Amino acid sequence: MFFLLIRFLSIFCTTCAVFGQLPLPKFPFIPPGASAGARLSSGYPNPQWSTLLGNLLYFYDAQRSGTLASTNRVPWRNNSALNDGKDVNLDLSGGYYDAGDYIKATFPLSSTLMSICWGATDFGKAYDITNQTAYLDDMLRWGLDWLMKAHPSNDTLYVLVGDTKVDDTYWGGDLDIPTPRPSYQINDTHPGTDAAAGASAAFAACSNLYSKRAFDGPYQPPASLNDTTYAEKLLKHAKDLYSFAISAKGGMRTYQKSVSAVADSYMSSSYTDEVTMAALFLSWATKDNSLFQQAEDYYKKFGLAGFNGVFNWDSKTPGIAVLFAQIAQSDSPLGGNMSTWQAEAERYFDRIIANEGPGFLTKHGLLFYNGDSDSASLNPALNAAMLLNRYAQIASTTKRKDAYLSFARSQVDYALGKNSMSVPYIVGSNPNSPSNPHSALASGGNNISDINNSPQEEAYILYGAVVGGPDKYDNFYDIRSDWPETEVALDYNAPMLTLTAMHVLNDTVDPFFTSLKAGAYDKVQPQGLPCDAVFPHSCPTPSLSRGGRIAMAIVITVTGLIILGLLSWYFHVLSQSGDLLKSG
Ligand SMILES: *[C@@H]1O[C@H](CO)[C@@H](O)[C@H](O)[C@H]1NC(C)=O
Ligand SMILES: *[C@@H]1O[C@H](CO)[C@@H](O)[C@H](O)[C@H]1NC(C)=O
Ligand SMILES: *[C@@H]1O[C@H](CO)[C@@H](O)[C@H](O)[C@H]1NC(C)=O
Ligand SMILES: *[C@@H]1O[C@H](CO)[C@@H](O)[C@H](O)[C@H]1NC(C)=O
Ligand SMILES: *[C@@H]1O[C@H](CO)[C@@H](O)[C@H](O)[C@H]1NC(C)=O
Ligand SMILES: *[C@@H]1O[C@H](CO)[C@@H](O)[C@H](O)[C@H]1NC(C)=O
Ligand SMILES: *[C@@H]1O[C@H](CO)[C@@H](O)[C@H](O)[C@H]1NC(C)=O
Ligand SMILES: *[C@@H]1O[C@H](CO)[C@@H](O)[C@H](O)[C@H]1NC(C)=O
Repeated sequence: MFFLLIRFLSIFCTTCAVFGQLPLPKFPFIPPGASAGARLSSGYPNPQWSTLLGNLLYFYDAQRSGTLASTNRVPWRNNSALNDGKDVNLDLSGGYYDAGDYIKATFPLSSTLMSICWGATDFGKAYDITNQTAYLDDMLRWGLDWLMKAHPSNDTLYVLVGDTKVDDTYWGGDLDIPTPRPSYQINDTHPGTDAAAGASAAFAACSNLYSKRAFDGPYQPPASLNDTTYAEKLLKHAKDLYSFAISAKGGMRTYQKSVSAVADSYMSSSYTDEVTMAALFLSWATKDNSLFQQAEDYYKKFGLAGFNGVFNWDSKTPGIAVLFAQIAQSDSPLGGNMSTWQAEAERYFDRIIANEGPGFLTKHGLLFYNGDSDSASLNPALNAAMLLNRYAQIASTTKRKDAYLSFARSQVDYALGKNSMSVPYIVGSNPNSPSNPHSALASGGNNISDINNSPQEEAYILYGAVVGGPDKYDNFYDIRSDWPETEVALDYNAPMLTLTAMHVLNDTVDPFFTSLKAGAYDKVQPQGLPCDAVFPHSCPTPSLSRGGRIAMAIVITVTGLIILGLLSWYFHVLSQSGDLLKSG
C-alpha cells in the first residue's frame, strides 16, 4: 500500500529525489543503433557524446542478475539466478554479472561502483544535461542494493557467488545457468582486508555522491542525486566494513587467503591500496580528521609513494594521490599539503607523458603495460586517461594541465576508432564497432566447442560494452573466443563512462567514430588463427574467461621464478667453483 503510494507520488515528482530513486523517463533511452554513430552531429551537449554516455550506462542494464524490473530496457534479458544465496539462507539474488559469464564478484564490482560514483561527483553535470541521471541512479542502486545484501552483518561480506570452474564449462543464455552457485564469504576469522576495504570505499564514494559532498575547485556539480537517507545507509555500511577491514580477528590479509575460490579469477595483489583509499573516502564523507590521519599513515607505512604501475580494479594506488590532492585543495577541515600531493601525483603522470615506463606507447599510440595490458589492453589506458583528465583540473602548471588533457584525449580517441584498425572499441556505437564480444549472454550460442561459429552472427547487440581491446601490436580481430581482446566487464566500462561525461561537458566536436564510415574496419579475420599469431599467448582456450588472465599471470610469474631460481643456482655454482678455484 505504502509502496503504491510512493509509486503514485513519484509520477508527479519528476525532478525531486525526496522519495528515493529518481523516476525513469517515460520514454526510455534506447541505443539508436550502430549506423547512427556514423553521422556527424552538432550542438551542446553534443548529441553523439550524449548518446555514447547513454549507451555506456545501458551496458550495465544488460549485465543484470536476479528479477528484472518492470522498467528493464533490454528486451532479450530474462530473470536469472533467483536462488543465489539460498545455500546460506540469504537472498543474494540481483546485482551484476561481472563479465562475459555468470559470476558475481564483489571485489571488481566494488571498484566499478567506486569509480563511477567518484566520476559522477566530479563531472556529474554531464548526466544531468544528457537526461541520464535517472539511469545513473538506477544503475548504481542495482549494484549498491546488492552489495548491502552481500554485507548482512558487520563482519560478513559475500565476495563471490557462483563457481568459476563450473562457469568456465558453460556457454549459453541466462535461462540455463548451471547450478549450484555457491556463496563465498569473508568473516572475522577468515577476513579479506582488500575486499572489505574495497566495498567500504565504494559505499563511501557513493554516499558522497548521494549527499552531494563535492570537491571544491574546478570540478562540475555532482549529478543531481539527492537522497540523504540512502546516503546515510551507504555510509553506515562503509564505516562497518572499514572497521571489519582493519580490526578482524584473523588480521589483515588478501581475501584469496580466506576464500581460495576467488584465486582463479579475482585474486587481489595486495590490500594496502584499498585500506588507504577506504580511509580517505571515509574521511571525506565524515570530515573526520583521525580517518584522514590514518589514510596518510597507511600511505607512508605501506610505502605507496613512488608506485608506477596501473590503476585498475585491483590496483588503486595511483588514484589515491589524486584523491588526496582533491581533498587538499578543497576548503575542508581535513587539510593535507597540496604541494606534497601534487608532487606525488605529477611524478606518476609525468612519467606516463614522457613515456618513461613501465607503460609505453604502442606503435599507434595506446598506453600499454606489459602484463597488465596483455588482456583487456584498453583498461589500463582508459583508467590512466580518466585519472589524468580528473587531475588536470588541479595541476600545478598550465603546461602540465595541457599535456595531461591532450594525452588523455589521445587515449580516448584511440579507443573510439583513431587506431590502425579503425575500430571504435564500443559495441553498437558505429558500423565498425566489434560485433563479436565475448559474452555468453549476448552470443545466443550454446555450443562451447564452437563459440565462434555457432551462431554465425551474435544474437544480440551488447550496446555500450567496451571490449578488452587490441594486442600490443594494435591488432584486433573481433573473434568471440578471443577473450583477452573481446570480453566485456563491469570495470572495463567504468573509466569510459567518466571520460565520456568529461567530454559531454567540454566537447562540441563529435567523438572520433563519427568520421568512420561502414567498411573502414576490414573485418577479414586471419584464416585458421583463433587469434593474433604475432602474439600467441593471447590465444585463449574456448572455455576460458576473464579468469584466465590471472591464471596466465601466475603461470608467467611461476615461470619467471623458475628461471630466476635456475639462474641463482647457476651463479651459486659458478661462485662456488670460483671459491674452489681460489682456495685450490
Ligand atoms: C533532455 O530532455 C529535454 C526535455 O525533455 C529535451 O528537451 C532535451 O532535448 C533532452 N536532451 C538530451 C541530450 O536528450
Ligand atoms: C531469454 O528468454 C528467451 C525466451 O523466452 C530466449 O529466446 C532468450 O535467448 C533468452 N535470453 C538469454 C540472454 O538467454
Ligand atoms: C568464515 O569464512 C570461511 C571462509 O569463507 C568459511 O569457511 C567459514 O565457514 C566462515 N565462518 C562462519 C562462521 O560462517
Ligand atoms: C536535498 O534534498 C533535501 C530534502 O531531502 C533538501 O532539504 C536539500 O536542500 C536538497 N539539497 C540539494 C543540494 O539539492
Ligand atoms: C558494527 O561496527 C560498528 C563500527 O563500525 C560498531 O560501532 C557496532 O557496534 C558494530 N555492531 C555490532 C553488532 O557488532
Ligand atoms: C607542504 O610541503 C612542502 C614540502 O613538500 C613544504 O615546503 C610546505 O611548507 C608545506 N606546506 C604546508 C602548508 O605545510
Ligand atoms: C559443437 O561444435 C562442435 C565443433 O564444431 C561439433 O563437433 C559438435 O557437433 C557441436 N555440437 C552440437 C550439439 O551441435
Ligand atoms: C574543459 O576545457 C577547459 C578549457 O580548455 C579546461 O580548462 C577544462 O579543464 C576542461 N574540462 C574537462 C573536464 O576536461
